[in-house]
Amino acid sequence: MSARRFPFRTVFEPFIIKSVEPIRMTTRPEREKIMKDARYNLFRVKSQDVLIDLLTDSGTGAMSSEQWAAIMRGDEAYAGSRSFQRFEAAVKEVFGFEHVIPTHQGRAAERILFSVVCKKGDVVPNNTHFDTTRANIEYQGAIAEDLIIPEGLDPQSLYPFKGNMDVERLEALIKRVGAARIPLCMLTITNNSGGGQPVSMENIKAVKTVLEPHGIPLYFDAARFAENAYFIKLREPGYQDRSVKSIVREMMSYADGCTMSAKKDGLVNIGGFLCTNEDRLARQEKDLLILTEGFPTYGGLAGRDLEAIAVGLREILNEDYLKYRIAEARYLGEHLVEIGYPIVQPPGGHAIYIDAKALLPHLRPLQYPGQSLSIELYLEGGIRTVEIGSVMFGKIDPDTGKETPARMELVRLALPRRVHTQSHIDYVLEVARDVYGRKEQLGGYRIVKQPAFLRHFSAEFEPL
Ligand code: F0G
Repeated sequence: MSARRFPFRTVFEPFIIKSVEPIRMTTRPEREKIMKDARYNLFRVKSQDVLIDLLTDSGTGAMSSEQWAAIMRGDEAYAGSRSFQRFEAAVKEVFGFEHVIPTHQGRAAERILFSVVCKKGDVVPNNTHFDTTRANIEYQGAIAEDLIIPEGLDPQSLYPFKGNMDVERLEALIKRVGAARIPLCMLTITNNSGGGQPVSMENIKAVKTVLEPHGIPLYFDAARFAENAYFIKLREPGYQDRSVKSIVREMMSYADGCTMSAKKDGLVNIGGFLCTNEDRLARQEKDLLILTEGFPTYGGLAGRDLEAIAVGLREILNEDYLKYRIAEARYLGEHLVEIGYPIVQPPGGHAIYIDAKALLPHLRPLQYPGQSLSIELYLEGGIRTVEIGSVMFGKIDPDTGKETPARMELVRLALPRRVHTQSHIDYVLEVARDVYGRKEQLGGYRIVKQPAFLRHFSAEFEPL
């Protein structure tokens, strides 16, 4: 039954549960010990010690019975496997690009793309670069530039397309550095680092119009492409009666290629790909692929993984699924707001971001308010979230040792795809209500041990 003809208001999970994994219940005293042993870092906690894991929506989804069935058809031939042919056909059908290069996940596609197109001193604009994208650009000695619209930086703005790129700043950048130093321009759909906010078709077209006369290619970081397309259908005039599939094809028609982490909207636990319409580029990328990932018909994945992606890419376009997906995030977001939580508005596609700086004004940024909230949600309810603030992005001056905090102190509650029921979300809300009631008592943290980079994964903390 199509989403439009369904006459009832309740949006329920459009699937039944066929295989289950038990949750091991724990008590608060047990979790206090676990947290202490993990040095107050949730990345160091074992998954069996977590009740509801909202750390990421990446690779944590549930596969469908059709995907598991496809896995049995996996053709593990080294070269020219049937699984690759089915994978390639699915990517071409949904995305429409000429060349499809499989990779083991999104960042591998990024590394190959930027190794081939970037040289030292180049500049790559994006609405907001995801961390691995930025890191892969900087690793080439190039500069990753974020050109998000001002609304995208205002957590309270209800603008419907807060993932849009600032077209005027893009024009100014091209003028300033010259087109020869811009190997490509990216748009991250949806904009993960900016709260999972979508980019409008109008903005995609406007960006393309600016790039075209300069011959600068447009690429999508397409990890959550279907969620972005569904937001266009919901919010952009003229798209209400279009299928998500046709919206995706229109989006892609303005682009010259994409990187993709299939761990998100590919509905799989591992996998990714890189697409381009340019023959010469595809050849160079495949040469590099062979060096580190694998032969171009498997790219570091098993044939069965390619099968699961082929099915997942078609399933993700199911509009009953997308309706439920967006409703789940909105339900969590709206009820958190009802309790009193300041969140990045409006709720995005894959996660809700709590503004911990606004919630815990008694803590200074370098007392890590996001870490504090994240730990309390775990202690109280066994819920694992992730701090996206000064622990993740604080910068330490190598000479003085002085730390500059991040611009925002957020806690992300990411929703794995097709994993949780409504009562799981209701439980999260009940725990959040309890924590909110005593937010003034939440204390800060200090870092006692940390590595030189990507410190959030392994740093050790102590309560102040
Ligand atoms: N691009 C975006 C927008 C992402 O969100 C991610 C991953 C990647 C690229 C990299 O893909 O993990 O397959 O190598 N995001 C995950 C997250 C890790 O938790 O948001 P990958």
